[in-house]
Amino acid sequence: MASPEKYLIAGNWKMNGTLASLSMIDELMKGVSSRDLQRQDIMLCPPFTLLSRLIDKTATLPFLIGAQDCHMQEKGAHTGDISAAMLRDLGTDAVIVGHSERRADHGETNEIVQAKAESAHAHDLTAIICIGETLDQREAGQTLAVVSDQLTGSMPALCTAANTVIAYEPVWAIGTGKVPSNDDIALVHQNLREILTSRLGEEGERIHLLYGGSVKGSNAADILSIEHVNGALVGGASLTAKDFLAIIKSVPEL
Ligand code: PGA
Repeated sequence: MASPEKYLIAGNWKMNGTLASLSMIDELMKGVSSRDLQRQDIMLCPPFTLLSRLIDKTATLPFLIGAQDCHMQEKGAHTGDISAAMLRDLGTDAVIVGHSERRADHGETNEIVQAKAESAHAHDLTAIICIGETLDQREAGQTLAVVSDQLTGSMPALCTAANTVIAYEPVWAIGTGKVPSNDDIALVHQNLREILTSRLGEEGERIHLLYGGSVKGSNAADILSIEHVNGALVGGASLTAKDFLAIIKSVPEL
């Protein structure tokens, strides 16, 4: 599980990668230093097809491994789905739930995301719960209302810093090269922190709040220095060792 005292840098490979992609792990290991690992935990979230191989390959390496989705039930007649129990059985550490691409492509509601997070918790996985506003919602001045609603609607009642990570990812910033201003990120993260502490007390102070959406080597240090930004969920820039290392190397001192 990710340490609450360190930054968490998680790479979401989305629907990318084949067996050949696993060679990036060797390149990553060449670049990651003990100084980097003092500052951060590094997580890789490959597609389901690579999970088992990646878990084997990183068994003695300092990487956490996450999946990108799970079903809300433990087992049963759900063709094509994968349960949290199955992910844990493989040795997976975490699972992303409620990514905006799943909310949009698969009609996942807050209730569904909450049920998936509960299933993740029940099977000892850290749930990385994603929330974020669309461009229309931002332009209508609804950002704080939307993300607050998504957070309270998607979070199980009993969350801890060990079993829950929240990722704020504005939909319009994902894969577009556009990033909100530092002030805008700070405002959202402050708001999320207040909700977490009012619901969970001290534990809410320790839950990782990640920012995601067009994070790269050139903007990571700036974004990670914002108060209540405890890490990043990285898509495109996590696909090559060179780009991912540029982010890993930008993580500030704690
Ligand atoms: P991006 O994706 O870094 O490619 O913008 C982030 C995400 O969707 O997790």
